[in-house]
Amino acid sequence: MKIGVFDSGAGGLSVVKSLLTHNLFDEIIYYGDTARVPYGPKDKNTIIRYSLEALEFFNNFDIDLLITACNTVSAYALPEMNAQSNYPILGVIESGVMALENSNLSKDDPILIMATRATINSGRYRVALEKLGYTNITSLQTGLFVPLVEEGIFSGKLLEATMEHYFSDIETPKAIILGCTHFPLIGDSLLYYFDHKPLLIHSGEAIVEYLEAYYDLEVKEKEANLKIFASDNVAGLRKIADKWL
Ligand code: DGL
Repeated sequence: MKIGVFDSGAGGLSVVKSLLTHNLFDEIIYYGDTARVPYGPKDKNTIIRYSLEALEFFNNFDIDLLITACNTVSAYALPEMNAQSNYPILGVIESGVMALENSNLSKDDPILIMATRATINSGRYRVALEKLGYTNITSLQTGLFVPLVEEGIFSGKLLEATMEHYFSDIETPKAIILGCTHFPLIGDSLLYYFDHKPLLIHSGEAIVEYLEAYYDLEVKEKEANLKIFASDNVAGLRKIADKWL
């Protein structure tokens, strides 16, 4: 099986890492729209337009399944993308919610959703979690982490100051939904900030859990063949890929 993975930039590599670790596919085609990242501060119509253009890129490959490894795209563009494609396209929000549900936290445990402005404004995570009965949810727009990750900054003073800026007023959560695929790349720093207390819900691990639950996939004997493409600064993306993968 050949799978496509689409993200606004480098963040979807965190999903690729999970796909490579679990080795369920023969080939992975990654496309990061680095020319136009970040998507998170943009309007719904722009996010949909960019996502449909990315779909055109994938028409060059005969993929069986596409994962939009971008929460922002998953929050807004899936119906339009699925309407224009003859293979299934999966987002990462449903699987993230499923992963949290499977973690057996109690419904009044504090849950932090960190995501881009667009994803938070869509309310997709909050509504899904409230439907499941979770009562203690904090939603935070934490888009400043996106350019830090795109710059290859995964630890250090700048990141610490950004975490302080966003988190100084909140109680330590029991679980953090990393509602942006860029955020697993700073997962260690986040855990350090919160004294290793919260469980991190990671879109990559969550989508693998989802694929294993709903698709009939077998672990491959050979490692997947990964091809990485970007709409700009391919060298920068490959550098992050080298470090992360
Ligand atoms: N990685 C994307 C996500 O999961 C967002 C980053 C951006 O703002 O483009 O939401």
